[in-house]
Amino acid sequence: MINLAILASGNGTNAQQITEYFASSDKVCVKCIVYNRKDAYVAERARQLGVPAQYFGRKDFYENGSVMRYLRENDIHWVILAGFLWLVPEDMLAAYPDHIINIHPALLPNYGGKGMYGHHVHEAVVANREKESGITIHIVDNRYDCGTTLFQAKCQLTDDDTPDTLAAKIHLLEKEYFPKVIEKTVLG
Ligand code: GAR
Repeated sequence: MINLAILASGNGTNAQQITEYFASSDKVCVKCIVYNRKDAYVAERARQLGVPAQYFGRKDFYENGSVMRYLRENDIHWVILAGFLWLVPEDMLAAYPDHIINIHPALLPNYGGKGMYGHHVHEAVVANREKESGITIHIVDNRYDCGTTLFQAKCQLTDDDTPDTLAAKIHLLEKEYFPKVIEKTVLG
């Protein structure tokens, strides 16, 4: 079995979709969900899905090694960032070289970097009257939203689109592609 840990910071729709996708797999398993905001709704989703979920704060990620211990105890092979908004710590990058996957709600390298996450991305895309946006799934390195691209998918914008309607289009792409791209990547 290939064991995944999902790291999330907020709502957790992607975490839920990934978990449901692999629920019947005999090759890939979502072993646990790690979240870094105490009130993140992803914790409630994890409870409903029956997946162990654990909160960790800033010190646990960057100073005392608690998150890394948790990943080791759970025999994790791949780390999936699904709306996780902190920079991945150096010790995690070292322990999982090319084994951390992120999804970004835009066509990188456009609309990436520090502060460009979630709704901020959609607001910027709409404000700039872009004709298209999309998703980027990529391997994580020690910079925000860089690292090798595994997959991109596009959607078109109309003049009527708002950040909310664009977010809905992006979520559809994420639902359709993120679990499949994870599967293809981790199975090699
Ligand atoms: C997703 O749209 C994801 O692409 C984005 O946060 C959202 C999380 O939604 N990630 C980033 O912006 C990373 N820079 P979710 O919590 O409902 O899965």
